[in-house]
Amino acid sequence: MIDVRKDFPILQAGENGAPLVYLDNGATTQKPVQVLDAIRDYYLRDNANPHRGVYELAQRATDVHEDSRARIAKFIGADASELVFTQNSSEALNLVAYSYGLNFLHAGDEILVYVAEHHSNLVPWQRVAQQTGAVLQYLYPDENGYLTEAELDKKITARTRVVAVAQVSNVLGLITPVKAIVEKAHRVGAVVMLDCAQSVPHMPVDVKALDVDFAAFSGHKLYAPMGIGGLYGRKELLKSMPPFLSGGDMISYVHEDRAAWAEAPRKFEAGTRNVGGEVGLAAAMDYMESIGWEAITAHEEALMEQTLDGLKKLPFITVYGGGTAKERKGVISFNVQDVHPHDVATILDAEGVAVRAGHHCAQPLMEYLGIGACARASFAVYNTQEDVEIFLNALKSVRRWMGLES
Ligand code: ALA
Repeated sequence: MIDVRKDFPILQAGENGAPLVYLDNGATTQKPVQVLDAIRDYYLRDNANPHRGVYELAQRATDVHEDSRARIAKFIGADASELVFTQNSSEALNLVAYSYGLNFLHAGDEILVYVAEHHSNLVPWQRVAQQTGAVLQYLYPDENGYLTEAELDKKITARTRVVAVAQVSNVLGLITPVKAIVEKAHRVGAVVMLDCAQSVPHMPVDVKALDVDFAAFSGHKLYAPMGIGGLYGRKELLKSMPPFLSGGDMISYVHEDRAAWAEAPRKFEAGTRNVGGEVGLAAAMDYMESIGWEAITAHEEALMEQTLDGLKKLPFITVYGGGTAKERKGVISFNVQDVHPHDVATILDAEGVAVRAGHHCAQPLMEYLGIGACARASFAVYNTQEDVEIFLNALKSVRRWMGLES
């Protein structure tokens, strides 16, 4: 198993008098000292506004900005010219919905969305549908939680123009069959918007090999700071799309009555950039690669297996989303019989265990599952088998705390 806890001072600090068992990594990860140091070094040595000054420090900041772009693009198999910096996945998904969706969709076109989508890859498409007259259609999982080829064949039609899916659902944790989706979508001339927020932290993602048209991700879920993320867009699509936000640095020339745009990706990057965040994200990717995908995968799979096995032994637990430890990434959502998930999370917190509870920004999925909310444990490289044991033991006492068992 990987042992990197020394890199994460917050884990040593503890909560409620107990060591911190942080199992809310699907919401955001903790940051290693290597990332914090890289950001600090940038602000100590290289900070200025990129693309604006001709003095040496500004040139250096520009180099750091563009070098970070190249580093981050490489991590997801993209070319630097196809990586737009955004604040997070939500901004990337909104950018595509408003710039591509509003301008290229028409009445009667279909936007196909998975019912398990995070609101960020759903609500923008609802708005696009309302404004263009396009129709929102839904993909549903089978009774075991899988998105099947039969469902894809039924729903991807000649009218489909956009398929918007997450590579890993932030509730179900199952890996989506992206290759099949892309093949079928491209056959009818539709584009695929892949939300990689929950996949990039846990598995190698190569946007070119997947052949997707757009991919969104957030830095803060992969050990980088909040406020930095990215959008991959196929070169010719980015070229054809109008800007989303306008202002400084995204133009080639501005007249009194009109403006011309800079080339992508700068066309989509209005205003001063979060260069410190970009440096942190590049450092986080270096950090992950220094551990290595093989080690990360083996470690997280072992935690997933231990947790799924442990939960199976607790008769009062319902786990959402099927699949083996190998087919899942990052998250396990569950409910404790007759206990509201907020109570579950509060009782676990008293034992120093942090999990998320609520609708997880996936209310259509909650409705589909027939629940209002659930609790969710989610993993990162610093979690240990002992964390899982503490979590499982704490779960055993939840119903007793609620007076449901003695
Ligand atoms: N999207 C994040 C989550 O699933 C916040 O928790």
